[in-house]
Amino acid sequence: MSDGRVDGLLSDLTLDEKLRLVRGRPDPEGRATGYVPGVERLDIPPLRLVDGPLGVRDREATAFPATIALGASWDPDLARRLGRALAAETRARGHDVLLAPGLNIVRVPTGGRNFEYLSEDPVLTSAVGAAYVDGVETGGVGATAKHFVANNQEHRRDTVDAVVPERALREIYLPGFRAAVDADASAVMAAYNRVNGHYMSENRRLLEGVLRGEWGFDGVVMSDWWGTHDAAAAAEGGLDLEMPGASAVELFAPHSRWLRAMLRLRLSDRLDLDPPLLWRLTDRLADEGQPDPYPFDFFGDPLRRAIDDGLVAEATLDRKVRHVLGLYERAGLLDGRSEGSARWGRAGDTAPSVDWDAHHDLAREVARRGTVLLANDGTLPLGEDDSLAVVGPNADEAKVGGGGSSEVTPTRTVSPVEGLRAGASRVTFERGVKRVANPSMFDLPGSGLRRRLRAGPDFDAAVRAAADADAAIVVVQDGATESEDRTSMALPGEQDRLVRAVAAENPRTVVVCRSSGPVEMPWASEVAAVVQTWYPGQADGAALADVLFGADPGGRLPLTVGRRFEDYTVAGDQRRYPGVNEHVHYDEGIFVGYRGFDRDGVAPRYPFGHGRSYADFAYADLAVERAAAAGGTDGDGTDGGGTDGGDLDAPAIDVTVTVANRAGRPGREVVQAYVEPPDPPGATARPGRELGGFVSVALDPGERRAVPLSVPRRALARYDPGAGWTVDPGEYAVVVGRSARGGRVRATVTVG
Ligand code: GLC
Repeated sequence: MSDGRVDGLLSDLTLDEKLRLVRGRPDPEGRATGYVPGVERLDIPPLRLVDGPLGVRDREATAFPATIALGASWDPDLARRLGRALAAETRARGHDVLLAPGLNIVRVPTGGRNFEYLSEDPVLTSAVGAAYVDGVETGGVGATAKHFVANNQEHRRDTVDAVVPERALREIYLPGFRAAVDADASAVMAAYNRVNGHYMSENRRLLEGVLRGEWGFDGVVMSDWWGTHDAAAAAEGGLDLEMPGASAVELFAPHSRWLRAMLRLRLSDRLDLDPPLLWRLTDRLADEGQPDPYPFDFFGDPLRRAIDDGLVAEATLDRKVRHVLGLYERAGLLDGRSEGSARWGRAGDTAPSVDWDAHHDLAREVARRGTVLLANDGTLPLGEDDSLAVVGPNADEAKVGGGGSSEVTPTRTVSPVEGLRAGASRVTFERGVKRVANPSMFDLPGSGLRRRLRAGPDFDAAVRAAADADAAIVVVQDGATESEDRTSMALPGEQDRLVRAVAAENPRTVVVCRSSGPVEMPWASEVAAVVQTWYPGQADGAALADVLFGADPGGRLPLTVGRRFEDYTVAGDQRRYPGVNEHVHYDEGIFVGYRGFDRDGVAPRYPFGHGRSYADFAYADLAVERAAAAGGTDGDGTDGGGTDGGDLDAPAIDVTVTVANRAGRPGREVVQAYVEPPDPPGATARPGRELGGFVSVALDPGERRAVPLSVPRRALARYDPGAGWTVDPGEYAVVVGRSARGGRVRATVTVG
């Protein structure tokens, strides 16, 4: 926005009006997740923010696949298309900002929100996350990079202090957010947790020092909902917008007749029912991971008092208002709804009409592209004449998403049973074991949720059905939710027993795993194929049928699937997870995910980047050469913001490799380039190999193609807390192949 406009508005705004712009209030229509009422006197309209990463949480909307499935596509172009579709639906529902994407790293394999994140790796998170942000922003609404930073577990997320070494912050946990800022995200949501002793909503070093000072972010920093703790500390720490600025009862009332009655009768404040009762009634112990929603108005009277008492300068408030008005301007809200905005090109009030069928097809495409074929003895693809026994406790329901703020009410759904019945001639269905609960944050008392009465499952009938069919498709799932981590990597209930019993009866048993992240697979060697579909969204069964009947699954693992929780570097010490005395220590440093498996010589069940194809790819003619920008250091201890030493994201190594599809069928390959650095000086440890670059390519039968990809300087660099980003001189190996452990061709290049 032109500074003149802002200065003009700032000089006209009273103190009370400025405070109205830095704190949320309940949306009178009960539709927006976050709502800034604006200042009618100066034609500043309300600003509306809405969840979430998997779709718009307001009335019906397309329930896209979980973000982890998008990560599994390894395709930034697909992410950009998804971002644009989400933007169209956000605007169609009348909102201005989408509270997405989630860019936290998958550190804990049982993390309750892993389904809302992209990967365990910062390079994959950055590339796909930045494209998602670009799609949302150019699609006409603001994107919100969340949850800044180190919100990697749900257990006590609202109070835990993440003690993260600087190098791990810089190399692992910050890059995704840096990429979102470089993609011009309009907003950043501060995480609930503390980092190195300070709540993120008042973490001056990371908000003002790194986010704004080093990266040049000039958008809005908002709190997570009820994630503010002190008016002056948050004001001075860099928070611009306190959310939600309303009580939990006020916010949840639209979803519950019972809570609406409480509000009408003013029970919630008269009896101080709000925080304790509401969270108890929703059966979520406050100490698990639900923020205490009380008090909720730090940027109201407490901030006014802090300014009146001289604790906070009004100029500090003005800076916040400037950031918020900048968001208004980008959304075209300051020029009246009749004119398009300078940035998002909004066509005034007329929200775009959404092609819901096309968006359903996009949800199906993302689900298909995120599907990872973990194992296949040749049973897949199925023949259309195959008779199928579909078995599984929830196989007659689409796995739309996980529990929490990312929940979406789908426009339609296709269950695995429905999808397979559309593609095969004879399909039977047996539940086999007790249904797996799908947790929801709207399981509020009196919300009138339907509890369908179901006939009890018949285990023997499921096994018999499998024995009588040409192939058995066993659909298993977990049930993850925001605000609590999974208690184990094991599938809930009796699902493992069901898989083994079916596999014992039918050698063509295919397991379809719909999970939020890695799960234990004790039966992996007993079944013919394993297909990982994550939370596939509303088009679940349609995408599954596409893949089982022959569409090449382009997905590759965005995280490591270990055999058990103990294989991961966060295991084995309460300090590292879930934490001790409210502190969780990232003692593994940068050795998270495959970096940790490699360092410790632990064989994963399926490695990062793994995924089979129905086609057959060969690699040859690898050529690597130094790009012009490689070498040198920033030397100023900053995150690549320094002037000397060159830009961390500039290409450092140019790679070309020939990939051939030797099969008689089309296939999609994700070509991955890993960098093996020279030994660094002294005692500094480095991962044996790290993802440097990747590209997803579709190849026709017999097609050979020279595939170029670029490795940025950041992939060669290590962060030294003293010297900053440092590219050690020496010989770097580039290994190109199909996973972190599937190198096919290798070459070296000398840098520096
Ligand atoms: C939640 C989540 C955040 C969400 C917000 C609004 O607690 O942490 O991701 O956008 O509150 O629902």
